[in-house]
Amino acid sequence: MKIQVIEGDITQCRVDAIVNAANRSLLGGGGVDGAIHRAAGPELLNECSGLGGCETGEARITKGYRLAARHVIHTVGPVWSGGARGEAELLRRCYLNSMKLAEQAGCGSIAFPAISTGVYRYPLEEAARVALKALVEYFKESNSDMEVFLVCFDSTSAEVYRKEIKENYPHLQ
Ligand code: APR
Repeated sequence: MKIQVIEGDITQCRVDAIVNAANRSLLGGGGVDGAIHRAAGPELLNECSGLGGCETGEARITKGYRLAARHVIHTVGPVWSGGARGEAELLRRCYLNSMKLAEQAGCGSIAFPAISTGVYRYPLEEAARVALKALVEYFKESNSDMEVFLVCFDSTSAEVYRKEIKENYPHLQ
């Protein structure tokens, strides 16, 4: 099980699949969604527009086009509304469903952004807790040797993810 926290721009990651924090239309947006569509080029939107959208917690896979990554896995995180509306379970499913699609596509490496922690206002510490728990659960239940990168766009996010690993999953360090 290899989970690494890195700081940077996910569109530059040289991995088999990068995960996009999309919205249910899959037709692009701001944040990391906008960055991925800009870097991948118009063919990505073309493929996405034929997918018929994606429910929160679900994931869809497309080609990566002009990205270094072979695939983009689009997942729709929950909008934070206080934590009593099943947000943690939906965020957990984003990670599990993205890992499953990457595995099915034969990916050996995957990069995740901090899903839902931007426009969708999911508190960073809570999102990191859910993300790590879901990924460790995935590795326990599969014999996957996928390399996972958690790509944080800023040092604050990176520190929060690193702290979560240090405190709860020291064996991952
Ligand atoms: N590389 C890595 N991470 C990035 C990048 C990038 N190029 N750009 C932004 N991020 C980070 C943000 O700093 C944040 O930590 O991705 C995380 C998720 O933030 P958002 O992109 O706002 O995604 P989210 O909170 O899931 O909201 C999704 O925003 O862009 C729209 O269409 C999208 O409606 C959807 C909503």
